[in-house]
Amino acid sequence: MRFSFLLATAARAFQTARGGGLRSGLSMSAVEKFRADYKSLPYGVESVNLNFDIKSESSTYVTSKLRFVGGGGPLELDGEDLKLVSLRVDGEPVEYELTPDGLKIATPPPAPFELETVVEIDPKANTQLSGLYASSGNLCTQCEAEGFRRITYFYDRPDVMSKYTVRVEADKDAYPVLLSNGNEVGKGVDGDRHWATFEDPFNKPSYLFALVAGDLGHIEDTFTTMSGRQVRLFVWSEHHNVGALDWAMHSLKTSMKWDEDRYGREYDLDVYHIVAVSDFNMGAMENKGLNVFNTACVLAKETTATDGDYERVLGVVAHEYFHNWSGNRVTCRDWFQLTLKEGLTVFRDQHFSEELTSPAAKRIEDIRIIRSSQFTQDASPMSHPIRPESYVAMDNFYTVTVYNKGAEVIRMYRTLLGEGGFRKGMDLYFERHDGEAVTCDDFRAAMADANGKDLTQFEEWYKQAGTPTIKVTERGVKDGAYRLTLTQSNGGKPPLHVPIKAALVAPGGAVAETLFELTDESKTFEFPMAVNGEPYVPSLLRGFSAPVKLSFEPPLSIAELESLAAYDDDAFVKWDSWQQLAARVVLDKYHGAQDAPLPDYLVNAFKATLTNGDEESSLRAYSLDLPDYSTLALELEDLDPTKLCDALKATRLGLATAARAELEACYAAMAPADDTFSLDAAAVGRRRLRNTCLAYLSKLDGGDALCGAHFDAATCMSDSIAPVAQLASKPDSNDRARCLEAFYDKAKKNQEDLVINKWFAIQAMADCDGAIDNVSKLLEHPDFTDTNPNRFRAVVNTFALGNPRHFHSGDGKGYDFIADQICSIDKKNPQVAARLSNAFGSWRRYEPSRRDLMRQALERIKVTAGLSKDTLEIVSRSLV
Ligand code: ARG
Ligand code: ZN
Repeated sequence: MRFSFLLATAARAFQTARGGGLRSGLSMSAVEKFRADYKSLPYGVESVNLNFDIKSESSTYVTSKLRFVGGGGPLELDGEDLKLVSLRVDGEPVEYELTPDGLKIATPPPAPFELETVVEIDPKANTQLSGLYASSGNLCTQCEAEGFRRITYFYDRPDVMSKYTVRVEADKDAYPVLLSNGNEVGKGVDGDRHWATFEDPFNKPSYLFALVAGDLGHIEDTFTTMSGRQVRLFVWSEHHNVGALDWAMHSLKTSMKWDEDRYGREYDLDVYHIVAVSDFNMGAMENKGLNVFNTACVLAKETTATDGDYERVLGVVAHEYFHNWSGNRVTCRDWFQLTLKEGLTVFRDQHFSEELTSPAAKRIEDIRIIRSSQFTQDASPMSHPIRPESYVAMDNFYTVTVYNKGAEVIRMYRTLLGEGGFRKGMDLYFERHDGEAVTCDDFRAAMADANGKDLTQFEEWYKQAGTPTIKVTERGVKDGAYRLTLTQSNGGKPPLHVPIKAALVAPGGAVAETLFELTDESKTFEFPMAVNGEPYVPSLLRGFSAPVKLSFEPPLSIAELESLAAYDDDAFVKWDSWQQLAARVVLDKYHGAQDAPLPDYLVNAFKATLTNGDEESSLRAYSLDLPDYSTLALELEDLDPTKLCDALKATRLGLATAARAELEACYAAMAPADDTFSLDAAAVGRRRLRNTCLAYLSKLDGGDALCGAHFDAATCMSDSIAPVAQLASKPDSNDRARCLEAFYDKAKKNQEDLVINKWFAIQAMADCDGAIDNVSKLLEHPDFTDTNPNRFRAVVNTFALGNPRHFHSGDGKGYDFIADQICSIDKKNPQVAARLSNAFGSWRRYEPSRRDLMRQALERIKVTAGLSKDTLEIVSRSLV
């Protein structure tokens, strides 16, 4: 079914409003593209020769020489916001036509022929940060998904792979560093100007093109690959950031080695650059040999980066590095296949981080993201399969579904095929498709063929939107065997191939671990072990073996959950059992008396975790955390956000009060022995657990002073920020103003923009009266700017997504505030606006009054004159 949610009027409004405004006088069209419509192009592009003549921040001339081969017929190229200066084919002028989104030559000569165009672009005016743009006076590019067409006319789609030669020329004082993909093959100086030429020997699609020109500092290192080649490694950023680049370099070298050890994949160019810029829409970009990163995913020093930040840098550097094989050497045929490279690469970076940090803690962090964000997206009108069927703005589909659910789908291959079988499949995939642009079906075929396993049904995971549910409808011992009946459903769609890791748990621990493959709608499985009279509890979906919702009918009893929590050796099931116990209590409060005392089983479980020194500290910290707002919201119809926030708050306070002594003891036990900063899993775990205890203790008498003292004694960012985040929600505390101010002053003095972002975010999340006014005031702060996405998101997105009580304020002020922000930022940066619009995605799940207010906000945004296709797509889909 074609999903034509774009009302014709809205689409027209869009076109006319935008049409005249662009420099080229062109308008982009809000056209829905379908996966089923894929067609190969009439021509190939054998080689791309680009010359960038950088005149100033606001003027760059791009000369492009493209050699077209094969085919015949009209040549239609993509182009956006380009000022065409000249056009020739084989050196001669030809007839051409500028179309709303590019250029058309109706009758080109027989191929091969060379098209030469010269365009002028304005990087400084490029506030959407797609294409060539300016960041702090330096120039950089972002081309995925469709930014290359904003640099020159091209077949801007991933199945067009070509060899690139690039020359960059600029003023040598303003832009001392010139970089592009591949190896530098020449350079020179000409008066005030200098130039450099680069050749990338590998064929690549346009989305992997990159260029950087600016005044940057760097660190340098080398890596010797497994075949003995020396690779020079560089990490670049603005000069004042150079002291914070070592961790990224360490992360890069570790990833390079890991991909060799785990997958036998080695790096293929002589040089690898990472450039960190402060204005960036996403986390980072895997451009061949020249990754461009958001500073938030590169910079790390103990005084400015939390343990979570260090982990993010490690994971994102690895992610972009791993793309060199899963993404660059083998890329996507079309953007519907995005999960081919992203799901796979997220899986690879998750596995890497599991091995480098703590496997169980990392797995739980990733499962939390799936269950709070991805399940929420699936429960909204934006729900889509990991391989979407249509899009208007591709940038809207860089989602937690394509990325994180996509990674879970890859993980299921590994579960079904085993570590060795999965590796065989990967080897075959790279062997078959190196240098090609392929589909998710090609990946599945490689996995199937390498293992002689029929994975036909597995395609359903790529087709179906929504979170499947698995119900355990019968369980127990029959004829000396433990049996389970599992029933799957996903809104009437065909059954999926679901790997379910299972075991039986009793006080002695877990036994009979096995893998059930559920392929029918319903099936009875038997554990491969004779069972005696022991009171076994089934431990299912171990390691979260499939991205599904599991439930038991009848539900597991409190005692059964306690048994899993106490005796299971699977970290996920163990943690999840505590979470389920806690969820029941919070939801009971929500439905009933908010001030009813907490049941003993929860308090006892909480105390048991606090006193169980044998378990890993990070896992203890994650067990102590209550399920978050979004995860709990999925359990409720006609959601009343205030009541849910109250229920969470009352449960936290109840636990803190009941377990004060245990919290204090654990807090004291986790105190660091000395000031040495370590990033090993044990040290990170201690800080994590100690700061979790602090969060509970901060709710009690004396909590403010404790936070103040914790802040004063802190020697690293994890310990500085934890108390300030708690104090931010306490307007009456003296320590609040003092600590927030000290936090800001230090960051300001040291020019630490990322720390200033944290300072903004802490306040935007604060749960206290007048929150909306406070956030509005933050927008007036001299350090606030809406042209830097990190800064904007630190205030606005943090409020919309991290402050549910006040975003969902009953008078609709939170919604108005965010809707206004969406409309104003959309004019500058549609990707940022569209992402923020997702904050309204769950509107149908709310109680009638909020539902109405949220729908009105969406409708108001939708009719805004000149709305971008990005935001129009999100709000239109949300309203369907
Ligand atoms: N490929 C990048 C990554 O490593 C993300 C690029 C997303 N870009 C965008 N405009 N949506 O995941
Ligand atoms: Zn990626």
